[in-house]
Amino acid sequence: MSTTINRQIHLVSRPQGEATASNFKLVEAAVPELKDGQVLVRNHFLSLDPYMRGRMNESKSYAAAQPLDAVMIGGTAGEVVASKNPHFAVGDKVVGMAGWQEYQLVDADQRGVLQKVDTTHVPLSAYLGPVGMPGVTGWYGLTQIIAPKAGETVVVSAASGAVGSVVGQLAKARGCRAVGLAGGADKCAYVVDELGFDACIDYKEHKDLKSLSGALKAACPDGIDGYFENVGGMILDAVMLRSNAFSRMAFCGMISGYNGEPIPMLNPSLILVNRMKLEGFIVSEHMELWPQALKELGTAVATGKLKYRETIAQGIASAPEAFLGLLKGKNFGKQLVKLV
Ligand SMILES: NC(=O)c1ccc[n+]([C@@H]2O[C@H](COP(=O)([O-])OP(=O)(O)OC[C@H]3O[C@@H](n4cnc5c(N)ncnc54)[C@H](OP(=O)(O)O)[C@@H]3O)[C@@H](O)[C@H]2O)c1
Repeated sequence: MSTTINRQIHLVSRPQGEATASNFKLVEAAVPELKDGQVLVRNHFLSLDPYMRGRMNESKSYAAAQPLDAVMIGGTAGEVVASKNPHFAVGDKVVGMAGWQEYQLVDADQRGVLQKVDTTHVPLSAYLGPVGMPGVTGWYGLTQIIAPKAGETVVVSAASGAVGSVVGQLAKARGCRAVGLAGGADKCAYVVDELGFDACIDYKEHKDLKSLSGALKAACPDGIDGYFENVGGMILDAVMLRSNAFSRMAFCGMISGYNGEPIPMLNPSLILVNRMKLEGFIVSEHMELWPQALKELGTAVATGKLKYRETIAQGIASAPEAFLGLLKGKNFGKQLVKLV
């Protein structure tokens, strides 16, 4: 049998400030022979996610750093192409954490390492987006931290993205007013016209705090009761100025500071004045709620109620540039790499 070549992307150096393509290297490795209990998965999609930027740094955050000269970590969706494990058959569709590579040889008996998924009503790629980690992230922050009541106003930044798009749609489904912030007219039009938000503010059109906070006042005439934070910086300051008493903020991400820029908060005294609740969370620390979240999200996608959009880069070699683009907002919806 001829050897199968597995093309991988390794992290070979750590960024100083902005990440660059030179931090990554394309490497070819032979796929070893399968041993008992193992499964060979051919990855069809790689998930690219903002958290990967933090893992490229040396310093330990809430998760360990990505080691150098090893396959970049990341979520994957693919198909079993060989199996010596009784629980997996050739042709099974699976999601896992194979990282940036074409194949994954895995000891499939390890708990949680591979999940079989049903692609009858939900496309495989959606398990990396609205019916996967980003979807559960939106669900968790909205339902467990913001916990909005019908009639309240919920604002979300990076609103056209994988997480933000889910937050606003779930808020609408709960009878809330949903307002997004996104970069550019196209993204804002999509958020309102396709996703059904009540309004979306193009933050790039507002160069200072007064202007952005004025736009939020117009879009949120009854103030803001819940804010889902993906960005930080001036957007957060502007939302603080329009937040109601007893409002809640779910701190999910602060992408405007991922290259190490300081992102101070201008008016922390408003937390006290408005008796606000601010809570950060990491979605992987709440695995007990994933089945409940995935049930709602899977049904909503299968029935067409939850809409989503993908930006798909082609081939393993495109992963580094696609990832760098994601950090600059070049993606429109969930950023994926298609391998097959
Ligand atoms: N806490 C958790 O467990 C958890 C889990 C998953 C994701 N997250 C966080 O959730 C957030 C969204 O992730 P995602 O996967 O859904 O990504 P995404 O929104 O699909 O893509 C990232 C978006 O961030 C926006 N952005 C980038 N730089 C920005 C800047 N300087 N200022 C304002 N906006 C900027 C861009 O949108 P625009 O073009 O609209 O600016 C870009 O498209 C990220 O902060 C991520 O780290 C957290």
